[in-house]
Amino acid sequence: LTKFKKMEITVSRKAHFNAAHRLHNKNWSDEKNQKIFGKCNYQNYHGHNYELIVSVTGEINPETGYVIDMGELKKIIKNEVEERLDHKNLNLDVPHFSNTIPSAENICIYIYDILKDNIDSQFKLSVRLYETPRNFVEYSG
Ligand code: NI
Repeated sequence: LTKFKKMEITVSRKAHFNAAHRLHNKNWSDEKNQKIFGKCNYQNYHGHNYELIVSVTGEINPETGYVIDMGELKKIIKNEVEERLDHKNLNLDVPHFSNTIPSAENICIYIYDILKDNIDSQFKLSVRLYETPRNFVEYSG
């Protein structure tokens, strides 16, 4: 029976970037921003050591034994995600976040969308983003 069953397995790659951000809603008063976002609204920005786990689910290619070449996945994450975000001020340096609040949720979706465009559509993709060791978000489309 297993011979005919679709066998899917998930492989994951960890990555890392440092970035600064500020949580601020332009439509709110300074008082309301301060009340809702607290320290994260600090006007001169603050930084995080973001940790990223990119998971790719698919069938094993019998010729390689791989789901996806991890070297290729590493390159895609480096070129498409780290190069755009590492050592950047997300609010000021990344056009997407000039009108989108760079919360962990929105950063995670942004990364997912970039990777989705760069990874074969036969794979299921999931992105987990740690903003702190204890706070993380996950998006799978
Ligand atoms: Ni923050």
